[in-house]
Amino acid sequence: DDSLYKAMKKAGRSFIGTALTIRNETREGEIIKQEFNSFTPENSMKWESTEPSRNNFTFEDADRYAAYAKKNNLQIHCHNLVWHSQLPEWVSNGGFDNKTLISIMENHIKTLVTRYKSVCTRWDVVNEALNDNGTYRSSVWYDTIGEAFLPIAFRLANKYDNKAKLFYNDYNLEYNDNKTVAAKNIVKLIKSYGVKINGVGYQAHLASEVTPTAPGPAPDQKTLEAALHATADEGVDVVYTEIDVRMNTPATAEKLAVQAATYERIAASCLAVKRCIGMTVWGISDKYSWIPGVFTGEGAALIWDENYNKKPAYNGFLEGINSG
Ligand code: G3I
Repeated sequence: DDSLYKAMKKAGRSFIGTALTIRNETREGEIIKQEFNSFTPENSMKWESTEPSRNNFTFEDADRYAAYAKKNNLQIHCHNLVWHSQLPEWVSNGGFDNKTLISIMENHIKTLVTRYKSVCTRWDVVNEALNDNGTYRSSVWYDTIGEAFLPIAFRLANKYDNKAKLFYNDYNLEYNDNKTVAAKNIVKLIKSYGVKINGVGYQAHLASEVTPTAPGPAPDQKTLEAALHATADEGVDVVYTEIDVRMNTPATAEKLAVQAATYERIAASCLAVKRCIGMTVWGISDKYSWIPGVFTGEGAALIWDENYNKKPAYNGFLEGINSG
């Protein structure tokens, strides 16, 4: 089968997704139709896009993504409700007390989750609450409410949509290190409040070689599997939510082969873990990846090149899926 999501379904899992920014590129629609049965709105559902000032909700952009999913019969991994980034100043610097901030959180969650109730397959309820050493990241949420902001956010999301699968999502969880243990503790914390959490998202912004911003190549397959098990064994689903595998550019044939092997073992690690229900690659073409703009001199991280040709990484990824 030369379709990523069909191969994934054949393996008994749920989805293969892409990050989606709707743009004027005919090839993207074709590729989505052929390869993906899920997408994550890349920016349109974030707080700064949906509630730029208090209780002033703007849904023109996000609604296009909901409509796109319905029209094309795609799952949506909705992204995201509570995050320190792409959060407007009125929230992050508002100086609100605990009670007021919780009411602001509730109003935001209620409005988004209710509006997209029939559309969101999954929600990233809380995004990136952890530092790399496993302590909580300082943010308006943590600094004002304490760690209870996590169970509170999940309780509220479930209150307004009890069907969507609710996820905690973070990066650098793939190394099975302190941060992975901390994510496992977040699952336990939320459950200890008697609140539902369905899954953990492992972003998987990885690299195929040492780069100025990557500690090294992506972990080996056993480490990836152990990292997934760390939270899955707590009784939740796991998903790779934002896969990309960057390198120092320009790409060479040799580097692209290493990247293909990296994509293959990422996919194989998911297929080796029963509770890994799906994987999302963070974009389609290298032409639009976020990496070169943020990490100078790095890129070529996706599985289609700048001209929408399949890279070796496409086949590596597919082979990894087929290994299941
Ligand atoms: O839309 C404006 C445009 O009007 C303006 O002219 C331009 C100038 O800066 O900015 C445009 O907004 C940019 C937006 O992407 C849309 O392109 C923002 O500056 C830019 O910051 C934003 O970057 C996004 C980034 O999150 C922000 O944190 C990336 O597209 C998006 O891929 C990235 O995704 C995140 C996940 O949400 C969470 N995990 C990490 C991942 C990668 O950073």
